[in-house]
Amino acid sequence: MRKLIAGNWKMNGLASSLEEIETLKGLTGGAACDIVVCPPFTLIEKAAQQARGSHIAIGAQDCHTKTSGAFTSDISAAMLCEAGARFVILGHSERRAVYHETNMIVARKATAAQEAGLASIICVGETRAERDEGIALDVVRRQLRGSLPIAAASANTAIAYEPVWAIGTGLVPTIDQIDEVHRSLRQILEQELGQEGRLVRILYGGSVKSSNASSIFDVPDVNGALVGGASLKASDFAEIISAAA
Ligand code: G3P
Repeated sequence: MRKLIAGNWKMNGLASSLEEIETLKGLTGGAACDIVVCPPFTLIEKAAQQARGSHIAIGAQDCHTKTSGAFTSDISAAMLCEAGARFVILGHSERRAVYHETNMIVARKATAAQEAGLASIICVGETRAERDEGIALDVVRRQLRGSLPIAAASANTAIAYEPVWAIGTGLVPTIDQIDEVHRSLRQILEQELGQEGRLVRILYGGSVKSSNASSIFDVPDVNGALVGGASLKASDFAEIISAAA
């Protein structure tokens, strides 16, 4: 399966950061994987113009469940498409924790994204306490089942396993732990979606760097990565991308 490497810039980036996309284009010309950069909303349109005609797609970091209406400050999936986004990250643990996004809200957002023609990257992941309690698998399985788009997910949907305790901490689960979770997520996808479930890419996210990327990508059901900090600098991100090729 062709790997998907997505960069989540989170709330980082001003217009000057678009230079990184220009550099990334040059560094990753022949990459044998799909590449997505998800800058903040304010940069999507410019980033999409800059990436036009290249192998880099632009994504967003969230969308609303509805197509339009009285939702001050929110952004719909159709608006993102119009701005040039092709992907959207949904249900990131920072949104689940800070904005209390439930699985149902994430599922509605995923449905809205699908209807607008955006590919979604749906995030799941356990906290440190949940892993220590031995319930990590139950947690991520429940999150995945509850967060899939309401009609049916398609191969256009990707899942990102991001253990909360690995995000921005430099801590990474063992290869066996990643393998166990990804296998389990694949099982759920096959149960929920049948054949289609085999085509859904499952990304790993949480402190991915050039030094650990290759060993993570060697895990059979790891079909790419969702990268935070190391996606901000084109040279770091390009090294991760080359490990996926
Ligand atoms: O969405 C990606 C993110 O949560 C992982 O962040 O900085 O640990 O790569 P980081």
